[in-house]
Amino acid sequence: MKIFIDTANLDMIKEINSWGILDGVTTNPSLVAKEGTDTPTRVAEIAKILGDRPVSAEVMALDAEGMIKEGRELAKIAPNVNVKLPMCVETLKATKALSEEGIKVNVTLIFSPLQALMAAKAGAAFVSPFVGRLDDIGTRGNDMLAETVQILNTYGFDTEVIAASIRHPTHVLDAAEMGCDIATIPYNILKMMVAHPKTDEGIAKFKADYEKVNGPSQ
Ligand code: G3P
Repeated sequence: MKIFIDTANLDMIKEINSWGILDGVTTNPSLVAKEGTDTPTRVAEIAKILGDRPVSAEVMALDAEGMIKEGRELAKIAPNVNVKLPMCVETLKATKALSEEGIKVNVTLIFSPLQALMAAKAGAAFVSPFVGRLDDIGTRGNDMLAETVQILNTYGFDTEVIAASIRHPTHVLDAAEMGCDIATIPYNILKMMVAHPKTDEGIAKFKADYEKVNGPSQ
């Protein structure tokens, strides 16, 4: 499974990139606004760090013509920049046009498998089902994600499914178990995925036992 980080914070991206496990970055207008900068500037900075790995940048236009225009501008920033469009009819039209030009589209704000199917049909390179925000309203986000993965796999779409709106490590575990292509994960959850109290306990014991015989290790 590919691991993306869901942030526009450069320090977090650089740190996770240094771990050697980062496959891409997703941003959204809320995440960029938190950094006090604008999307083109921040996306250019992120794209440079990522090299040839994908970075999703969201358009603000809500009509197909505007989405296509804004999408082309974003895609010009760097070859690894993908255009993120919010699910709606205008997005289907824009996805078709942009993907035919070779610009990869990530259709976001997906809350049902049928929305994902429509986006895939229009040529989306990625669809982003929002798991946590469905959980927030008492609907099982995981069920929606699993149905989405199953449908797109059944028909052999090239579209990759990005598990988004990840709120805790078990969302990632569930996505991995169901064969989801990608999870886009907040920084704090990536840190939780590495840690385990039994690992810390084991390291401390090995160190203590070593030092009993050899003296201080470091
Ligand atoms: O990638 C979409 C994600 O950023 C939304 O997450 O936690 O705002 O629902 P959240």
